[in-house]
Amino acid sequence: MKKTLILAALIAGFAVGARADQATVTVKVNEGRYTISRHIYGHFSEHLGRGIYDGLWVGEDSPIPNIKGVRTNIIDALKHINIPNLRWPGGCFADEYHWMDGIGPRSERPRMINTHWGGVVEDNAFGTHEFLDLCETLGTEPYICGNVGSGTVEEMAKWVEYITFDGESPMADLRRRNGRQEPWKVKYWGVGNENWGCGGNMTAEYYAGEYRRYQTYCRNFGDNRLYKIAGGPNAADYHWMEVLMRDIPLRQMDGVSVHYYTVPHTWSLKGSAYEFDDDEYYLTISKAAFMDELIAKHSEVMDRYDPQKRVQLIVDEWGSWYDPHPGSNPGFLYQMNTMRDAILAGVTLNIFHKHCDRIHMANIAQLVNVLQALILTEGDRMILTPTYHVFDMYKVHHDATMLPIEIGTVKTGGDNSIDQVSASASRDGEGTVHISLVNTDLENEVTVTCRLEGLGSARKGKGQVIAAENITDYNSFDEPEKVVLYDFDNFEVRDGLVSLTLPAKSVVTVAVNGN
Ligand code: AHR
Repeated sequence: MKKTLILAALIAGFAVGARADQATVTVKVNEGRYTISRHIYGHFSEHLGRGIYDGLWVGEDSPIPNIKGVRTNIIDALKHINIPNLRWPGGCFADEYHWMDGIGPRSERPRMINTHWGGVVEDNAFGTHEFLDLCETLGTEPYICGNVGSGTVEEMAKWVEYITFDGESPMADLRRRNGRQEPWKVKYWGVGNENWGCGGNMTAEYYAGEYRRYQTYCRNFGDNRLYKIAGGPNAADYHWMEVLMRDIPLRQMDGVSVHYYTVPHTWSLKGSAYEFDDDEYYLTISKAAFMDELIAKHSEVMDRYDPQKRVQLIVDEWGSWYDPHPGSNPGFLYQMNTMRDAILAGVTLNIFHKHCDRIHMANIAQLVNVLQALILTEGDRMILTPTYHVFDMYKVHHDATMLPIEIGTVKTGGDNSIDQVSASASRDGEGTVHISLVNTDLENEVTVTCRLEGLGSARKGKGQVIAAENITDYNSFDEPEKVVLYDFDNFEVRDGLVSLTLPAKSVVTVAVNGN
């Protein structure tokens, strides 16, 4: 009860002892040129830890309610946030995956070791049909990542044929024998994953040649048009981007991927997911905010070769990566998800909006039970993390027009200096303007005056907030609703100005309706 009252006071903007800082935001309502592709809100499920098995997939015979083997409550939760796409089967697993192991009667599929992730048995129960059926159930676009590292051109070409060819052919006939008459539609196709590392330890020059060869045989069958994604750089490896843009003809690729994880300390000692102090929090968010510079610099390289922005940037792995949860298999990458992760998600999504002229897709790593997961499961129970709630709050930006903004804010975080306020705005098909704001400050509220330039008269719409008493708060199986969304009414709209007070460490979205 006491906690609820404290939180209610925080959200209403009456935190005892807190300072109220000021910030300004100018939204250029009539200057929107680019669409925030809904695919920026994409997801990723790898055969890793309990992401698929014991996560999404429980099997058709499970007592846990399921639709074709996938937990019904997860399906409902994903539909609620309008999941736009799902990347599969990896990750590093993709470059070890041989798709033919995952088709045909499940009892006859080979059992093998998942050598990359935890050395556990992979029984191939979840394969091509199961994945594509799930995407159909969800109404989401599949994004398949093919095997370049340990596969062959023939294997990848046959996978495309198996899935998408309508006519008579050995692969299409095999698909029919396995129970699927009609081909599926698959647009997004990755040609390898992290080919600078687990995907074959290639040089950029070597991979560019391999990419050209592999993509040649990934055919468009019928009206299925592949959107081909080249395996891009590791974080700030601008050389890799340069070589791909230079050596691959633009007409041969639609997107280039980039991966960037927020690791608070080092790769060997990353830091706890849920026990951290204020400095470590600010360090984490400052590292997440590096995404802005990273995208700007990769875009600069891309612009030199492709000023028309024909080739798009696909941030198909991003999110926080902490030490494995105590007691869990370190190869499973299971971690808790706190209010810090909600702030990280809000800041990152605002950055993606800013760069939506170049970014077509992004995929948070990962969907269930792995890294910055949206969903955690334990036995028959499921919980939604603070990160899930930010995706829920931000879904109003899907396919909306990004509105340029100017932000006047101070720095916070001491040595790990970060902007106190991060923000973005968009206008949807009905003309409603949504403004999303993150107050990264752990102590202080911020009073924001937001000018909507060019909107004329405007009416207050709905608002939502996610905040917590402590930045280390998380949802657990004992307390699944500790960090959730609340209605946010603490704002006014008058004379083209929106005035609001952001609680400390919060993410807020408000709607303003034009007349
Ligand atoms: O998401 C976990 C792993 O991180 C992926 O398998 C790999 O692509 C990346 O290194």
